[in-house]
Formats: sequence, C-alpha cells, structure tokens
Amino acid sequence: MTVCVDCCGLNGLSGFTVGAEADIRTGLPSFNIVGLPDSSVKESKERVRLAALNSHINFPDDKRIVVNLAPTGLKKEGPSYDLPIVLSILAAAGIIDKKELNKTVFEGELSLDGSVRPVSGILPMALHAVKNGYKRIVVPYENRNEASLAEGIDVIPIENLRQCCDYINGELQIEPYKTDIKAYMEECKTYDLDFADVKGQESVKRALLIAAAGMHNIIMCGPPGSGKTMMAKRLPTIMPDMTFDESIEVTKIYSVAGLIKDSQALISVRPFRSPHHTISNVAMVGGGRIPKPGEVSLSHNGVLFLDEFPEFSRYVLEELRQPLEDGEVTISRVNGTMTYPANLMLAASMNPCPCGYYGYSDKCRCSQNQIIKYRNKISGPLLDRIDIQIEAGGLDYKSVSSTKEGESSADMREKVRKAQLVQAERYKNEVFNYNSRLTPSKIDKYCSLGKEEKALIENVFDRLGFSARSYHKILKVARTIADLEERENISRSDIAEALSLRSLDRSGE
Ligand SMILES: Nc1ncnc2c1ncn2[C@@H]1O[C@H](COP(=O)(O)OP(=O)(O)OP(=O)(O)O)[C@@H](O)[C@H]1O
Ligand SMILES: [Mg+2]
Ligand SMILES: [Zn+2]
Repeated sequence: MTVCVDCCGLNGLSGFTVGAEADIRTGLPSFNIVGLPDSSVKESKERVRLAALNSHINFPDDKRIVVNLAPTGLKKEGPSYDLPIVLSILAAAGIIDKKELNKTVFEGELSLDGSVRPVSGILPMALHAVKNGYKRIVVPYENRNEASLAEGIDVIPIENLRQCCDYINGELQIEPYKTDIKAYMEECKTYDLDFADVKGQESVKRALLIAAAGMHNIIMCGPPGSGKTMMAKRLPTIMPDMTFDESIEVTKIYSVAGLIKDSQALISVRPFRSPHHTISNVAMVGGGRIPKPGEVSLSHNGVLFLDEFPEFSRYVLEELRQPLEDGEVTISRVNGTMTYPANLMLAASMNPCPCGYYGYSDKCRCSQNQIIKYRNKISGPLLDRIDIQIEAGGLDYKSVSSTKEGESSADMREKVRKAQLVQAERYKNEVFNYNSRLTPSKIDKYCSLGKEEKALIENVFDRLGFSARSYHKILKVARTIADLEERENISRSDIAEALSLRSLDRSGE
C-alpha cells in the first residue's frame, strides 16, 4: 500500500511542497529512501527506524519499504524530513490513521529515543503551508512560537513520535498553539542602550543621524577608545520601529538560520550584527553544505557593524560588494543559485593607522608606508559604497567628565522618522525608498542644484581634489541633510556639511 505525507522544503526563504510517499509490501526485508542526497538518506534511515523502535511502535521491519521524497528534481537538505518519512511508513503499515494526514504538513527531526527535535526554517515553511491551503502544521514543540506567527493555520506542537502517533489516531488531544503577536511587537520596543550615554562626539552623532535618515553606509575613523563601537551599537535605537511585515521578513531569515530561541517568536527589534574580523566568507555572505544565511542577511533591515574594518580579509570585504549593491545576496550552489535578502546599513570603524594613534598622539611610530598599506586594505570599489566618512577624534577631559546628557535616542529617532517620511513621499513611484539608493540618473532628477550651490561644489572639488566618484555621494548625503531640515531644495549649507562627511577622501591619498 502507498501513502503520502506532506512536508515542506526550502530554497532560500521560499518553501516548496514535498511529499513523502511510502510503499510497503511483503518481500525480502529492506528499507530504502529515494529523493534525498545519499548522506542524508543513510542518516535519516537509522534515525527513523530506531526512533520508532524506541517509542515501542511496531516498525514494519519484516517488510520491503521504499520511501520516495517527491518531487525528485528539487534539492532537499537537512533533517526535517524524518517525521514525514516515519509517518508515511507507519500509515502505509496501518499503524496510524492515514485519513488524519490530509491537509496537514509535518516537520521534525527525530532523535534515536523518539523525541522530536526542532528544525530550522519553520516560519517560512508554515507560511508556505498557509499559502497552499493546508489547515494544520505539526511542528516540534520548541518551534511552536515561530510557527504560530503564520496566521490561518492550526499549529500542533509535539514532543515525541509516540505523542504524534497518538494524536493522529485520536487517542490524545493537542490544542492548536497560539501566540499573542501584538504583545510580542510591543514587548520588544525598548532598548537598553541610548545615545544620551555618549559624551561629546557631536559631529559623529550628527553623521550617524544623517546616515540613519538616508540609510547611508558609514565609516568612522578614529583612535582607540573614542567611542566608535559604543556609538555604532546605538544605531538601531535611532531607526524607526520595524513594521510587522519587516519583522516577519527578518524572523524568516533567523528561522532558517536556526537562531530563534525557544521563548521567542517574532524578531521585532532591528538587527545589529557585529561579526569578528576573522569571520569566514561563508559566515559573512551565507552558504554551506546545508545553506544558511550569513551575517549580511542576519543584518537585513538593520545594521551590520564591522569593527576594525581593515582587519577583515580582503576576500570577505570584496564579497560584500554585491549585497551592498543589490540588497540581497546570491549564493551559487552545485545545482543552481539561491538568494537571501540583505538590505542593510553598513557601519564600519577603523583606526587611522595600525597602532591607532596617527594624528592623535605622538605615541604613533607607524611609517608612512605602513599607514598607506593599512588604508589600502579597503578597496576603492568598496569604499565607493560607503557614502559617509567621519572622524571620531579623541575625547578631551571636559567632555568625558561632563554630566550633561547628550541628545537622546528617542529625539534622534523622531528626526530620522520624519526624514524618512519625506523620502517615502518623494520616491512613492520609485522602487526604492531612501536617498542612499539613488542611481546617477535619479540623482540628476532628485538632487538638482541652484546656481550658487553648483558654484560651491565646483570650487571645492577643484581645490580639494575630490574624485569624481565622491560627487554623487556628496549630492545624495546633501539630499538627506536637506530632508532632515525639511528643505525642498538642497542649500549651500547642506552641501558644505555633506562635503565635510568625506574625511577619508581628503586625508587618505
Ligand atoms: N564619547 C563617549 N562617551 C562616553 N563614554 C565613552 C565615550 N567614548 C568612549 N567611552 C567609553 O570608553 C569605552 C570604549 O569605547 P569604544 O569601545 O566605543 O571605543 P572604540 O572607539 O570602539 O575603540 P577601539 O578603536 O579600541 O575599538 C566605552 O565602552 C565607554 O565606556
Ligand atoms: Mg571599537
Ligand atoms: Zn600608528
């Protein structure tokens, strides 16, 4: 007899339906799974058989068993097929009621003792199930919270195989699990960090405000201890709250990465990621044998902070170019490619020289050559994608010891929110929302300058030797500054301020 149990596979963040079809007949005892990669088949076979036996379920060991995971053309990875596989076998053997398997998807990895272990990617799987008309999804207990974010489907959490079989046979009642999504959204809106804690550094705070308002990538350059890391960590606190849809998108990525904690459902706070500079390429952009999103995707809708920027491997930095350009990352695989979203704001920090003190203290003994080599580690094309460069100078005693509170995150966030509304209105017919996304032709359209403003920019360009590539960035940043001031036209002062946000251009070469 043949029975099919439905489950869900993933390609990037999108799901596809997979059917586990079991065929059991008398003959020489054997157990085969087709439609999975070889290594997974071997592992899954052992887990499925032993989990059933250890749950005191009558596994049909004396029969000829074949399970096919259809469709065969799509790549299926990971252990989440264990549960549908074992259920298809048990249903084909008449041990569980196959009528009860209709309109239901099952996901779960099995332990040898029969317990059901959590799997990654439950949220996109549940959303796929809803979209395809399923009424019920049976998930590992630990995944119940994220599964319940999908509306319009009953979520049945199970802890072990025995429980699952009893539930299907009607011998055990399990109530569908529900989460209070609104409460989750509210709960996580508060941050422990605040810009008010930062003393002095007004110009850096201002640069970060501008960066957040237009979603411009930013690099801070300064000596150790000047508060670069401290300020970068506070960037998400001045970005507007994520909308529900943005939260779901981020949560899907964390779900696939297996990073949703048991107690957590929705990720409602903008991500802040700060990977160490020894990070590998795969960890940064994503990939691997069972593909996982990398740091660029885990920063989606939030901030990717790269501390000690020049210390990252050149290869890793080069790989950042594509996601920064496209807002998503494409990963090549043996049979095709897959994409994850990666719409992020990059914040980077660096010291002015290898020892950190060049220009700030006579402690620095770095040679000119060493300094040039250090700065050249960041390639031109990458620096090209960073609109704002700001110097974070050393702190004097007066600022450090001052008891005056700086501008709070809440006040800064309000300014950012207003400037983003202006942009959303201006770009309502475009595919982008932020000034940082303006292409050269759109810059001509949206950042036109008056006569005086043109004269200013020309004058400075010739005098200070800015490169042509800086030109567009200056205009984009000036546009954001004007938006912060609610000015329709870019003024001379906006341009002057934007020019001051190119400190590396001037001191670098
Ligand atoms: N502007 C500031 N206001 C208040 N505290 C500060 C400020 N700058 C630095 N500090 C204090 O110094 C500590 C170190 O700062 P932080 O780690 O941000 O420096 P950094 O610029 O990132 O240095 P490095 O180049 O070594 O990474 C902070 O945790 C904070 O306690
Ligand atoms: Mg630091
Ligand atoms: Zn030095």
